[in-house]
Amino acid sequence: MTRAPRNLFVTTALPYANGPFHIGHIMEYIQADIWVRFQRMQGHKVHFVCADDAHGAPIMLKAEAEGITPEALVARIAAERPKYLDGFHIAFDNWYSTHSPENVELSQAIYQALVAEGLIYKEPVEQFFDPVKNMFLADRYIKGECPKCGAKDQFGDACEVCGSVYSPTDLRNPYSTLSGATPVRKTSEHFFFRLSDPRCVQFLEQWLDTPGRLQPAVANKAREWLTGKGEQQLADWDISRDAPYFGIPIPDAPGKYFYVWLDAPVGYLASLKHYFSSGKARANGELRSFDEFLAAPDVEQIHFIGKDIIYFHTLFWPAMLRFAGRKGPDHVFVHGFITVSGAKMSKSRGTGISPLRYLDLGMNPEWLRYYIAAKLNSNVEDIDFNPDDFVARVNSDLVGKYVNIASRCAGFIAKRFEGRLGRVPRVDARAYFKQQAEEDDAAHGRHAEGRDGDQRDMVAAFQNEARFVREAYEQREFGQALRLIMRLADVANRYIADKAPWEIAKDPARSAELHEICTLALNLFRLLTVMLKPVTPALAAKVEQFLGIAPLTWDDVDILLPEGHAIHPYEHLLQRVDPKQLEALFDNGGNGSAPSKPAAAPAAAASGQTTAEVSIEDFAKLDLRIARIVAAELVEGADKLLRLTLDVGDGERTVFAGIRAAYAPETLVGRLTVVLANLKPRKMRFGLSEGMVLAAGPGGKDIFLLSPDAGATPGMKVK
Ligand code: 2FM
Ligand code: ZN
Repeated sequence: MTRAPRNLFVTTALPYANGPFHIGHIMEYIQADIWVRFQRMQGHKVHFVCADDAHGAPIMLKAEAEGITPEALVARIAAERPKYLDGFHIAFDNWYSTHSPENVELSQAIYQALVAEGLIYKEPVEQFFDPVKNMFLADRYIKGECPKCGAKDQFGDACEVCGSVYSPTDLRNPYSTLSGATPVRKTSEHFFFRLSDPRCVQFLEQWLDTPGRLQPAVANKAREWLTGKGEQQLADWDISRDAPYFGIPIPDAPGKYFYVWLDAPVGYLASLKHYFSSGKARANGELRSFDEFLAAPDVEQIHFIGKDIIYFHTLFWPAMLRFAGRKGPDHVFVHGFITVSGAKMSKSRGTGISPLRYLDLGMNPEWLRYYIAAKLNSNVEDIDFNPDDFVARVNSDLVGKYVNIASRCAGFIAKRFEGRLGRVPRVDARAYFKQQAEEDDAAHGRHAEGRDGDQRDMVAAFQNEARFVREAYEQREFGQALRLIMRLADVANRYIADKAPWEIAKDPARSAELHEICTLALNLFRLLTVMLKPVTPALAAKVEQFLGIAPLTWDDVDILLPEGHAIHPYEHLLQRVDPKQLEALFDNGGNGSAPSKPAAAPAAAASGQTTAEVSIEDFAKLDLRIARIVAAELVEGADKLLRLTLDVGDGERTVFAGIRAAYAPETLVGRLTVVLANLKPRKMRFGLSEGMVLAAGPGGKDIFLLSPDAGATPGMKVK
């Protein structure tokens, strides 16, 4: 390594703890994880943390609707996280929660420092208030008639029918979506962070202008907000919310809580603090205290985020830290969204791809890591998941080019040379690179990337190119890195095809030649493995095992396997994607949009579609009711079932539900759901089942129990 090791504190955006991860989360984590693994391979120290964003009204209301505490909801969601993170090889050093003592302490300390700086003030704010729920209503909980066209049930910001834009107080006949009540206007004192203060503005101008800190497009956007030239002007920031609210209390202000967006980014620091206090930082080689580390000039603080939350991370967050006397972020790396076959993702529902279903189908997580990496660059561009493209890239690049090198040559080493490598020959690389460049030009109608056409030695050419791959990773140009790597894989394959070891093997007199060809090929394969390792770490671990070598770091690019080195017998390293798996991925019982392609997948088209029509009389035959789950237990001898005791209004009854893979029984107790109460009772081995609880989803872990909105009580009829 040529430069001093860096100390990196890296985060991804904290996901709200009100639902499972969708593919957008996984994409961000994969992006950051690749960058972190790459930095580690360079010998740098990285502390990579995240946490659940636990606070705010939506989480409070969702918990209430389920009849559980917000703490229980957050705990249930947190318990689900590891199977996704482990499943996709996303190696955070710490996962924590914003609902934590560390976050309370840090958020309150930062706030108090801002108070001391004279940057916090109070002002009365008039807002809609729900007299039934006894709470102030955020705009998204108010609907009414459009003041322009009179359309009913419009949100408080814009009319979906005529497109006019207004504020919630303009709505005619407004109602609370939480209770249906007519909201009243009520005034309450709010706390504001004075972002318009000239000190803040001046600081932010200089912060945004620091070269290399932000992507140019991001800095421009933030600068527009700061200077008020964009559509959104930088106003002082309302940082308080009134009880009831699930959040952190504001010191010396009874009944007031920090708005979730104040304590969310502080959660980055809270997770880091917990990482230090739990001894993990020390185990990861950081001997300083949390406070020393956070304040140290050599530590680079880096946040990976999506483009929808630039505002918070490039204005509020740096200003908060700065005027609380703390070091701020060094970089904010922003990515775009992921679409699926061109269809936009919904923040709450995600896309048609369920990450969990992907894993449950046995699809290899590194296919997705590879595919996402191939699409990513350092711009704030959306990327598209296209099923056909996914199959093509994984099968033709990862398996067809990279793995192919090993599978074509390893057998000869085992069979003919007792598993030992020979001497690495010097091979003039020029002709192979030239042929490859010509072919790339013909295929793409442009001159191929790469600068190695004049290398006289194949190994040197690969080593030289690795420098450009390294730079591409550093700049988060992952697509570029993989293009360079696959081009090298093409060259290696071209060499193998040219030499045709399978022909040479037929002639015992050419044994030495065979040995050299296969030795060079496996060394090239090893170099490619170094370069791919940030993207495909588990595959790299298999290769390390097969080659009988220690875990590869980037420095390994400079050395070759010595003559006589023993490798292990080759076992298949990576399966191809079966297009049927993609059909199954999208055939998820209506829980997401099927992709527009492959349009011909009949299974995808059939699922989740309507069946025969029913009349309202037919529907009325169903006794659907709200039920409270008063007890939930495992059923001995039935690994899919839970025994639920339900309060259905007029008494209790037992229902056996096939939801064990999706829910731990203790998380269900107390919550409300919907039951079909007049289903013919069914005698089961374990007892009588007197009804059926309603749930959505394809089954297994992907089952989602229905919950009524807040206010419903056991026995209420669903109609
Ligand atoms: O937009 C979101 O999903 C937020 N939960 C992100 C918070 S990032 C950080 F500030 F905590
Ligand atoms: Zn309208």
